[in-house]
Amino acid sequence: MNKVLVSLLLTLGITGMAHAAGDAEAGKNKAAVCGACHGPDGNSVAPNFPKLAGQGERYLLKQLKDIKAGTAPDAKPEQGRKVLEMTGILANFNDQDLADLAAYFASQKMGVGAADPALVKRGEALFRGGNLADGTPACTGCHSPNGAGNAAAGFPHLGGQHAQYVTKQLTDFREGNRTNDGDSMVMRTIAAKLSNKDIAAVSSYIQGLH
Ligand code: HEC
Ligand code: HEC
Repeated sequence: MNKVLVSLLLTLGITGMAHAAGDAEAGKNKAAVCGACHGPDGNSVAPNFPKLAGQGERYLLKQLKDIKAGTAPDAKPEQGRKVLEMTGILANFNDQDLADLAAYFASQKMGVGAADPALVKRGEALFRGGNLADGTPACTGCHSPNGAGNAAAGFPHLGGQHAQYVTKQLTDFREGNRTNDGDSMVMRTIAAKLSNKDIAAVSSYIQGLH
């Protein structure tokens, strides 16, 4: 394993989070308001809305808390995660509601898309091998070889996610527009090394990965 990856993993290890018990059945009823954008089962059709189906429960719950904090009327610029489209949507959900929503979407299955054949080679090389020259770690170390992520650790499932959404996240991490990857700044550090072409290739590869 390369040195950057080991040090990133070590820093992530200390930022643990208690596991809240969500109820998927209860979450299903609360998810009605999400369906218009994310799809009733969490498999969104529009490529700018992330698929939530099959995403790790711990990761989902963390994002919901971050988005709720980041879209609160009194949110500071660096606080949580800003998703303007979701402004107000989580305001009346308490921690149990968020845990139930996370449990519901985690219990669904993420559908897979297809990669652009012209980008597959470059995307696969980066995803599986990183870039030795500038120390970019392989994505597989945390997001697993098939893109399933690591649910227990809170590393998100990427395989099958919309390329357009993934591209926006990597660009947002790189430009500092998404800052909720913790004090270790794990994804901001990695994305800082990626060119636009790298991002386009790895995002397309991820969309077809399963
Ligand atoms: C009006 C559209 C809209 C609605 C309704 C909506 N969302 Fe979202 N949601 C978005 C968008 C857009 C993003 C991604 C923003 C970005 O590009 O960073 C997002 C992101 C998310 C994420 C982060 C996903 C990830 O992979 O990191 C979660 C979790 C989420 N939404 C859950 C929900 C839940 C649960 C509901 C219902 C209670 C909901 N959303 C309702 C538009 C919506
Ligand atoms: C050391 C572990 C680690 C490595 C290596 C890593 N990631 Fe991540 N990644 C994370 C963590 C942790 C998060 C979740 C951050 C948060 O809580 O918001 C994440 C989030 C993401 C997201 C956002 C997912 C979503 O649904 O919004 C994308 C996209 C992503 N990573 C892509 C990559 C790519 C591409 C690579 C390789 C170039 C990579 N990651 C390497 C740990 C890692």
